[in-house]
Amino acid sequence: MIPDVKPSSVLYLNNVSVSFDGFKALNSLSIVIEPGELRAIIGPNGAGKTTMMDIITGKTRPDEGEVFFNGDVDLTKRDEADIAQLGIGRKFQKPTVFESHTVWDNLELALNRKRSVFATLFYRLSSEDKARIEEILETVRLTHRRDELAANLSHGQKQWLEIGMLLAQEPKLLLVDEPVAGMTDAETAETAILLKEIARTRSVVVVEHDMGFIRDLGVKVTCLAEGSVLAEGSIDFVSADPKVIENYLGR
Ligand SMILES: Nc1ncnc2c1ncn2[C@@H]1O[C@H](COP(=O)(O)OP(=O)(O)O)[C@@H](O)[C@H]1O
Ligand SMILES: [Mg+2]
Repeated sequence: MIPDVKPSSVLYLNNVSVSFDGFKALNSLSIVIEPGELRAIIGPNGAGKTTMMDIITGKTRPDEGEVFFNGDVDLTKRDEADIAQLGIGRKFQKPTVFESHTVWDNLELALNRKRSVFATLFYRLSSEDKARIEEILETVRLTHRRDELAANLSHGQKQWLEIGMLLAQEPKLLLVDEPVAGMTDAETAETAILLKEIARTRSVVVVEHDMGFIRDLGVKVTCLAEGSVLAEGSIDFVSADPKVIENYLGR
């Protein structure tokens, strides 16, 4: 139990368990994310990292345990659409940008998702929205490619564009699953900087296998294995843990 931190935390998971056909994908998982925190999650395949994100976003219901957002919002009582609306954005592994639209239009569409169909029909881009899109373009390093079709972006740039589309929704918490897989070394290094910038104004949870990238982030690391926390702390602390070496790093 971690009883006294719930009121101030962005995300509070306490003893969360979920089984699939008798297999415990999450086994009494407890994790707390603070406002403005950037947290890295590592761990072997099948550790439950993606399942944890499924629980947070309402895609999967826990069998047991507590899941609270922003202090006292009980996420186990909300559906996926509700949870997105509350301000939890999720980036999946594969980018899902609109390839036949420009970078700018992708961001404009993402900004529009907040509006009703009626409002969108009569919608003219306000100077405020333009400024917001320009700001996002800067954040995701795509200002010079704003008029390019998304199809023509590199894999890494598509990942950044999708992060930008999530930012247009102004999430309080951003969940990012394996963002640097398939990126060049330069893109990977840039992604670490970019996520740190994003975490200045919101909380970010990032799952990654790339230990160089995790080291670049320089934040608290949680290592999951078999559905629960194996070790938590600085990268040096976690990577020196014999359990982490045995279950993950030494493999
Ligand atoms: N919807 C599901 N149905 C059945 N099994 C699942 C489901 N989601 C995850 N699992 C299983 O739970 C375990 C944890 O998976 P996952 O969370 O994807 O691990 P990770 O992301 O850490 O690699 C795996 O054994 C996986 O096969
Ligand atoms: Mg996964």
